[in-house]
Amino acid sequence: MGPVGRLLTRNEIRALVQRHGADIIGHRHMAIERRCYQHGAVTTFSHSIRVACLAVWLADRLHLWRRVHLASLIRAALLHDYFLYDWHDDDNGAHRLHGFTHGRTALRNAMRDFTLDRIERDSIAHHMFPLTPVPPRYVEGYLITAADKISATRETLSMSRFDRPELTR
Ligand SMILES: [Fe+2]
Ligand SMILES: [Fe+2]
Repeated sequence: MGPVGRLLTRNEIRALVQRHGADIIGHRHMAIERRCYQHGAVTTFSHSIRVACLAVWLADRLHLWRRVHLASLIRAALLHDYFLYDWHDDDNGAHRLHGFTHGRTALRNAMRDFTLDRIERDSIAHHMFPLTPVPPRYVEGYLITAADKISATRETLSMSRFDRPELTR
């Protein structure tokens, strides 16, 4: 059984993410994620919160709590796109390989700002599988990879992208 002994509600999932990710969500570098659009009208910050909530939801509905470390799942999900730049900016071609390289960049930034366990490190580094060749080693990594693909597709196809507000920089 899961963290509360029955299936989790949306609000319970959000509360778990807030609780286990409080230091990450409150970190000053998260301000960068709040300024950068990820897909459509969704910032990297809100994308990361969605991926964390969806990963917890998947673990819950798939009854994986015996095999999943909740805190590591949430923390790795919140940090999976912690690359801290706007990948839509050209920057002289620096971000051309973004899809292939940003897992490593996110891990480097995350290790600088937080103490990570091996599940968190591996899940962040390999979340772009199968675009990058090395698969995640832990079930948490697969949940994050799945949640990320589902969220990215939904965010990209959402009509709200056409009336997204201009962000002030
Ligand atoms: Fe990513
Ligand atoms: Fe992502």
